[in-house]
Amino acid sequence: MQTRTDLIEACTILIWIASVLHASVNFGQYPYGGYILNRPTKSMRFMPEKGTPEYDELATEYQKTYLRTITPKKESILNMTVLEVLSTHVSDEQYLGQRIEGGLWTTDSEPIEAYNKFGKKLAEIEQNLIEKNNDKSLRNRYGPVNMPYTLLYPSSEEGLTFRGIPNSISI
Ligand SMILES: [Fe+2]
Repeated sequence: MQTRTDLIEACTILIWIASVLHASVNFGQYPYGGYILNRPTKSMRFMPEKGTPEYDELATEYQKTYLRTITPKKESILNMTVLEVLSTHVSDEQYLGQRIEGGLWTTDSEPIEAYNKFGKKLAEIEQNLIEKNNDKSLRNRYGPVNMPYTLLYPSSEEGLTFRGIPNSISI
């Protein structure tokens, strides 16, 4: 790194990876994949070939055959539990653009002002996303299943909320 611009770019990439990028793939794990029938984690058997007893069974008792093909009950419950824990915000989560400790993290007014400005910008972005998600003409945001993409709303409550960008990650 040679210049201040280089430093800003490196910091921006690090902050992006540890906050927004992570949030976009992490907090949807349970909402998207917790119900194992929507996203089986493994397939235990090959698709039966025509003329075999397994194929006949699939044709007559398709539900039983399908359930035997995907992740078993015990592993499914374990999987759901892990995904739920990973997708849950803790009670003292610190979100991007917010400070639990208020203005006590530094006595320099310039970074405090910059951080406040950053927080306000994030709140505007969140409002913009909410408006787009509520616009039913934007089907790419809303979709036929009425499940808008909320993972990049910066703020959240604790728990399983399908939204919220923590300031950083611990794992
Ligand atoms: Fe994660």
